[in-house]
Amino acid sequence: IKAKKAKISQLTELRSQRVRVFGWVHRLRQQKDIIFLVVRDGTGYLQTVLSGRVAQTYQALTLTLESSVEVVGTLQAVPEGKTAPGGHELIVDYWQVVGAAPGAEDAFTNRLNEKSDPSIQADLRHLVLRGETASSVLRLRAFLLTAFRDALTSHSLIEVTPPCLVQTQVEGGATLFKFDYYGQPAFLTQSSQLYLETCLPSLGDVFCVQESFRAENSHTRRHLSEYTHLEAELAFITFSDLMDHIEDIICKTVDLLLANPISAALVKQLNPSFEPPARPFLRISYVDAIKWLNEHGIKRPEEDAEGNAVKDESGQTKMVEHAVGDDIAEAAERQMTDIIGTPVFLYGFPAELKAFYMKKMPGKDGEKTVFTESCDLLMPNVGEIVGGSMRIADMEELIAAYKREGIDPEPYYWFTDQRKYGTCEHGGYGLGVERFLAWLANRFTVRECSLYPRWPGRATP
Ligand code: 4AD
Ligand code: MG
Repeated sequence: IKAKKAKISQLTELRSQRVRVFGWVHRLRQQKDIIFLVVRDGTGYLQTVLSGRVAQTYQALTLTLESSVEVVGTLQAVPEGKTAPGGHELIVDYWQVVGAAPGAEDAFTNRLNEKSDPSIQADLRHLVLRGETASSVLRLRAFLLTAFRDALTSHSLIEVTPPCLVQTQVEGGATLFKFDYYGQPAFLTQSSQLYLETCLPSLGDVFCVQESFRAENSHTRRHLSEYTHLEAELAFITFSDLMDHIEDIICKTVDLLLANPISAALVKQLNPSFEPPARPFLRISYVDAIKWLNEHGIKRPEEDAEGNAVKDESGQTKMVEHAVGDDIAEAAERQMTDIIGTPVFLYGFPAELKAFYMKKMPGKDGEKTVFTESCDLLMPNVGEIVGGSMRIADMEELIAAYKREGIDPEPYYWFTDQRKYGTCEHGGYGLGVERFLAWLANRFTVRECSLYPRWPGRATP
């Protein structure tokens, strides 16, 4: 009799037919004359039942977890009181092993579980991916990228693909991966922002989803050496338009994910208490954030002129109050978002803490610090997930900014030219996809949110 080849996710429509499914043995329970297999094919899980003649073969008796199999049979609703994925099970009348796996003595099926040493898990990432949690996170990631694209497209932004191999820096020379490009120095991109800016007069508002690379020696829960960077750039906007837009895109993306039953189920599975954030998001100026930190007794480590932490007599790191001009470090930022408990925009950072291209705020009398039209969006449990700003639109001002930063303007001629050939007020932002996913799916670290995460010392598998 013929059997229709199908993916597990399609089976509900094929209940009365004989079907053929290919997949991997996800779970295996052998009883006297009956074998229960849960087969996984990436689209879902299928409970299958082998009994009688088909359960009595050598292959059946030596079957191991993670073997690939073909199973053929008819679907049957599960008996009352029992549960199975999809509410049905496959009564197998024919099956075979496609490729056997080593079984119980093997690292993956035996040693590897959620409590395994992190370095073993990292080495075996290619096998960890087969697990229910890891695969759900990556599946949700795929839906997330589609939702972002749909949200941005509905705001009339168009997607472009900027280069990864570049000869200009965006976020400071200290975190560049350098390499030799046919005898010339070049870098892996830190941000596609400068290229997006050049697209405005051609394509209008644009976005990209591109890998960015940061040579930061940061072993934290939220730093990767390579991450997926969603960046957008908008023309003829104000600073408050920019923050409104970021909030719109994030909320629209969350709405789209929750409106789709498959992604909504993944969010529920990974982060059962997830609630879409309330609008409008809180907006706190940098200066008010410094006051807030001091009012809440959140201090920063004192640093000497070289930037090293100062110790007191007992060898403890000396903690001091924050002052205007100080960076808000990761630890302080995290404490702040944990107390506030909702998304919050911090805006108006001092120019000396931020990148060269940022537009300055008009100075107030008596203020010696120059502030910028910049914003970071912080999320509970993760901290900064978005960094954005308005850009310097005036050519002379940009040339002065290169000079202040010690940047040779020559390789930036094409970026500078935007100010020469019809400048406009514009701004944009970058969002770390793994950080967003860590927030959405309540993951402890961004390393879980990347297919093959890279961090200092790790580029395998
Ligand atoms: O704040 P960043 O450095 O801003 C920029 O690169 C701007 N040029 C973006 C723009 O305006 N087009 O990076 C933006 C975001 C951060 O908020 C963070 O979410 C993420 O990128 N990010 C990282 N994610 C993982 N690992 C790292 N090492 C990251 N560095 C930044
Ligand atoms: Mg930033």
